[in-house]
Amino acid sequence: MHTLAVARAVHGIEPLVAAEIQRSGLGSVRALRHREVWFDTADPGPALLGLRTADDVLLAAAVVDGIGHDRTALRRLARAARELDAGSLSGRGPGVEVSASFVGRRNYTRFEIEDAVGAELARRTRLPYHSRAGGGVPPRGSVAWRVTIEGERALIALRASGTPLHRRPYKTGSIAGTLHPPLAAAMSQLGRLGEAGTVLDPCCGAGTTLIEACAFAPRARLLGLDHAPGVVATAAANAARAGRQSRLVWAVADGGRLPVAGASVDRVLVNPPWGRQVPPAGLLARDPGLLWREVRRVLADDGVVVALLHDLPQDPRGFEAVRRVAVSLSGRHPVLTVLRKRGRASRG
Ligand SMILES: C[S@@+](CC[C@H](N)C(=O)[O-])C[C@H]1O[C@@H](n2cnc3c(N)ncnc32)[C@H](O)[C@@H]1O
Repeated sequence: MHTLAVARAVHGIEPLVAAEIQRSGLGSVRALRHREVWFDTADPGPALLGLRTADDVLLAAAVVDGIGHDRTALRRLARAARELDAGSLSGRGPGVEVSASFVGRRNYTRFEIEDAVGAELARRTRLPYHSRAGGGVPPRGSVAWRVTIEGERALIALRASGTPLHRRPYKTGSIAGTLHPPLAAAMSQLGRLGEAGTVLDPCCGAGTTLIEACAFAPRARLLGLDHAPGVVATAAANAARAGRQSRLVWAVADGGRLPVAGASVDRVLVNPPWGRQVPPAGLLARDPGLLWREVRRVLADDGVVVALLHDLPQDPRGFEAVRRVAVSLSGRHPVLTVLRKRGRASRG
């Protein structure tokens, strides 16, 4: 028997999440929605929690059609929760929490959906319901439900893990502008790291790109450099917690003068400094273009760069973009860009 599972994702990378689901044999993709990949799985167990590009994995309890923009939707959703199959109501904890979201304007709020569904789930499970309305914070360990609506179709689903998947246990050390781990995993997927021998992040920050890359690059040597010594220490500590320290090398260096031999790197994964939140320092403060000159020098001719770029109107000098994936994250719209040295034949 198959279960309908739903992977939640950063908007823009849904197709990459779908590709990871298919590649890892976790299920067969049924549909892509806004921030969701719906898939049928024969194994709704812990294997699903190995998905790297997903923010979260949910197990569907009900799909409800006919959810319009008016307030009758609240009654319809409450009825669907009241009639959920008893088998889908598993889970124990200090209570029940519900988190709702929808696409487009509606004549009701997310909190009204949460409270309508939460009250019914509490009745069915005999657990207290903890509302988020008015700033309430449900106690840790509560059974976490999600309601999402796109068009006229709603999903009522149970979160498959105790905490959201994007919250990586290794990442207790952080820095301003640090990368969302599922996006870092998406960069590795775009870079097709499988055969890579050396992977470099010249502005590694808290180390997220390379720690995530370990799962995609089984044979690679991974080198993380950053201008700030404290940041490099944070990356090393995160890697140690992830149990990845043996494959990773960290060092203090300026991205404008990389201590790396020419044409020796197969993949570069980078989220360069940008704007006021994470300003370039050292040589890059004077000339941010030096980073790209150095990346071009150290990259092998058939090498690939995957960069998360903010506000960069043109391809970096000496490179051509072979793929761009625009993402939405915390109100910003950076672009995941796959670059090859200019003048080489393009590859998808
Ligand atoms: C957007 S952050 C990178 C975030 C990182 N991907 C992470 O997951 O934490 C940019 C990084 O560039 C570093 N940086 C700034 N100027 C630099 C330079 N000249 N050389 C190398 N790194 C630099 C900053 O210290 C910061 O850690």
